[in-house]
Amino acid sequence: MANLERAPRQILITGGAGFIGANFVHHWCTAYPGDRVVVLDALTYAGNRNNLAGLEGANLRFVEGDICDRALVDSLLQAESIDTLAHFAAESHVDRSILGPGAFVQTNVVGTFTLLEAFRQHWNNAGQPAASRFHHVSTDEVYGSLEADDPGFSETTPYAPNSPYSASKAGSDHLVRAYYHTYGMPTLLTNCSNNYGPYHFPEKLIPLSCINILMGKPLPIYGDGQNIRDWLYVGDHCSALDAVIHRGTPGETYNIGGNNEVKNIDLVQMLCELMNELAPELPVRPAQNLITYVKDRAGHDRRYAIDATKISTELGWTPAETVEGGLRRTVEWYLTHRDWWQPLLSEEYQAYYREVYA
Ligand code: NAD
Ligand code: DAU
Repeated sequence: MANLERAPRQILITGGAGFIGANFVHHWCTAYPGDRVVVLDALTYAGNRNNLAGLEGANLRFVEGDICDRALVDSLLQAESIDTLAHFAAESHVDRSILGPGAFVQTNVVGTFTLLEAFRQHWNNAGQPAASRFHHVSTDEVYGSLEADDPGFSETTPYAPNSPYSASKAGSDHLVRAYYHTYGMPTLLTNCSNNYGPYHFPEKLIPLSCINILMGKPLPIYGDGQNIRDWLYVGDHCSALDAVIHRGTPGETYNIGGNNEVKNIDLVQMLCELMNELAPELPVRPAQNLITYVKDRAGHDRRYAIDATKISTELGWTPAETVEGGLRRTVEWYLTHRDWWQPLLSEEYQAYYREVYA
C-alpha cells in the first residue's frame, strides 16, 4: 500500500543481495522509483549480486562490504544522507549455526550493534529528524517452539530461542529494543515466519526440495517430518515491511505470518505433486519416490505459528498469497531459472551438503 503523498526516502538496505533482501529491493525500487536505494552486502555464500540484475543504476548503488565495518557504515550513512535503514543482513540458516555458531554471533549481534551505533550518531548529527527509521528484520524463531495446541506467537510471547541462530537474532532484537528505550532512536522490529519464493538459496527446505527433485536426488526429511512451519510468500513479507516502515509506530514490534501452518512432510508432498504436474522431464517420477527420512536436526523446534492480529488491525496488512498459489509460483520460478540456481551448487555447497546430510 504505497502512500502517494510520501516524501522520497534515502534508504540503506543491508543484506539486499540475499533472499528476502533482494525481493525487498525489487519491491522498493518498483513501488518508489524516486527513492535513493543503497545496498550494503558482504556477498557471503548466501549473497548473490545477480539477484539485483537490472536494478543497479542511477537510483540504486550496490556496495560490497561488511555491516561490522563501522567506518564504512558511517561513511555511507553520511555520504548518502540516509534517513531509513532496513536491516536484513544476517547469517540465516539454522543448520549452519549448529555447525559453526561464531559467524552468527559476529554478524547478527556485533553487526546489528555496529549499525545501531552508527545510525544513532548519524541521527543525532542530523538533529534527530522525525522521518528517520531503523527497521530490524527478525524472525519468529526467537519465541522458541510451540506445542500442538498452543496459540500462535504474539508480540508479548516471552523470548525462548533454541538454536545458535535464533539466540543470535534474539540478542540483536534486544539491542534494537534498548536503543528505542534508552536513546529514543526510532526503531521498528518485525518478527516473521518462514518465507519462500524466488532467489531462495538452496540450503533451505523448499528450494532444496525443488532442485533435488529436478536432479533426481533424495529429499531429506528431518526426524518424523511432523514439524510445523507457518509459510509466507516472500512478496507478502515485503508488503508487510513496507507497511511497517511507512505506518508503524517507532519502538513497536509487529509479528508477520501467513496463517499457513503445514507439516514438513505435507509441504514436500505438495512440492512433489507440483513438480509431477509442471516439470516435463523428471529423472524420478513420481517425485515422491525421492522422499527419504534422515537424522533429525539437533534441538529441532517442533512448531512455529504467528498471530498476526496486531499488524492486521493496526496497519491493515494481510497476506495476498495462499500457500497453494505461492508454492505453484515458486516451483514455476525454479523450473524457469536453472541459470540462477545451477551455479550455486558449487564445491563449497557440496561440502556443506555432505557435512549436514552424510
Ligand atoms: P539470506 O541468508 O538469504 O541473506 C543474507 C544476506 O546477508 C546475504 O546477501 C549475505 O551476503 C548478507 N550478509 C551476511 N553477513 C553479512 C555481513 N556481515 N555484512 C553484510 N552483509 C552480510 O537471508 P534471508 O533468508 O534473506 O533473511 C534475511 C533476514 O530476514 C535475516 O535477518 C533473517 O534472520 C530474517 N528472516 C528470514 C526468514 C526466512 O524465512 N528466510 C524469516 C524471518 C526472518
Ligand atoms: O521461521 C523463520 C525462519 O525460517 C528464519 O528465521 C530462518 O532464517 C529460515 O531459515 C527458516 O528457518 P527453518 O529452520 O524453519 O527453515 P528450513 O528451510 O531450514 O527448514 C524448514 C523445516 O524443514 C524445518 O522444520 C527443518 C526441516 N528440514 C529442513 C531441511 C533443510 C528438513 O526436514 N530437511 C531439510 O533438508
